[in-house]
Amino acid sequence: MRKNNIIEQSWANDLPALVEAGLLEDKKNLELSAISLVRRLRNEFPDVAKGIAAVLSGYSKGNGAFRSVGVSPPADRDTHANLLQVDDATRGALKPVFDARIESEVARFVAERERAEELLKAGVMPANKLLLTGAPGTGKTMLATWLAQKLEMKIAVFDLATSLSSLLGNTGLNIKRIFSYAKQESIILFLDEFDAIAKRRDDATDVGELKRIVNVLLKEMESWPSRSILIAATNHPELLDPAIYRRFDSCVSLPLPDKEQVIAIIARSLGERLDTVSPSILDLLGEVLKGKNASEIVLYSNNAIKHHLINEMPLDESLMTTLLDCARRENSKKIGILCYAMKQALGSKISVRKLAELSGLSTTTVQYHIKKGVKQ
Ligand SMILES: Nc1ncnc2c1ncn2[C@@H]1O[C@H](COP(=O)(O)OP(=O)(O)OP(=O)(O)O)[C@@H](O)[C@H]1O
Ligand SMILES: [Mg+2]
Repeated sequence: MRKNNIIEQSWANDLPALVEAGLLEDKKNLELSAISLVRRLRNEFPDVAKGIAAVLSGYSKGNGAFRSVGVSPPADRDTHANLLQVDDATRGALKPVFDARIESEVARFVAERERAEELLKAGVMPANKLLLTGAPGTGKTMLATWLAQKLEMKIAVFDLATSLSSLLGNTGLNIKRIFSYAKQESIILFLDEFDAIAKRRDDATDVGELKRIVNVLLKEMESWPSRSILIAATNHPELLDPAIYRRFDSCVSLPLPDKEQVIAIIARSLGERLDTVSPSILDLLGEVLKGKNASEIVLYSNNAIKHHLINEMPLDESLMTTLLDCARRENSKKIGILCYAMKQALGSKISVRKLAELSGLSTTTVQYHIKKGVKQ
């Protein structure tokens, strides 16, 4: 009897928070209190605990009564411009090429989402707020789109930079409306150019309005429900307010591709044509292009394919010509080094005359670079 009293009291302690969260429509705290109740009631009142867990998992999947019907995405009150770009059928989205470390971080996030129901039943919250950082063209948007496809969820994109520059006065309100839409639907809300808003609150250039917006954002993130996913992307994580940073469950920092990923990205772009490319050229490309962003590597590969098709040139050759073109545009000093690297990689398969033809240099200059390279 006494034991029962203690247990009853312990779970009864959760009730005021549950009622308060319900009245305030604070879904996150409502969920947390319900999860806590499941844990506390599991032994003494297994049926009640199961019942609450079933309600929680139905909600997390956006089932039945919890599914909102025909909620349309919000628009700005003054300009009527759509605040969100919603895509509810991401198909054919490719998974970005990542190294093993990022692969496993992404896999862990996906596993938590795919097994969200199980986790909720066990009384723990699955991760639902992901921060993606990385230089431009490293796959932040690509990853968010792929996740939407993988998890079979709609994705709604909110570009903070555009919205902030044109609608500063309404931004606080717009953010509230965007979050309230995203909380009703079971979706991925993708906040692009996140640093535009999530600036340090102590930044000297910060205006009061911006501070207010950051506070709105913090509050909205606090009450983000488990069934939806929030993904934010930024090229400037150092500008983020530490308070905002802390609110993410996971932070994945996407690096520039190393040699292995460069080769994988080129191989994917070339598709079946890869069979006609000599391994030494691929190796050379990996070496020369490592450290460029993935977007530039995809662009490079596509240019080489176009060159190959339009000029009816062997792919090996168009890959080299395109590489020399890029070097010429970036820094003409690199062309000599590239001629040397190509000779090293291909040996007798490429003549000095051919290198001169591809690079636009004279045979004497090519010879000079090859000799200079050998001496280095
Ligand atoms: N890791 C990657 N693997 C393969 N392709 C990639 C990868 N990252 C980027 N790409 C290619 O570059 C294109 C642009 O990438 P994406 O838009 O995802 O970059 P981003 O990190 O969002 O850049 P930004 O900061 O400018 O928004 C993609 O459509 C894809 O073709
Ligand atoms: Mg992007």
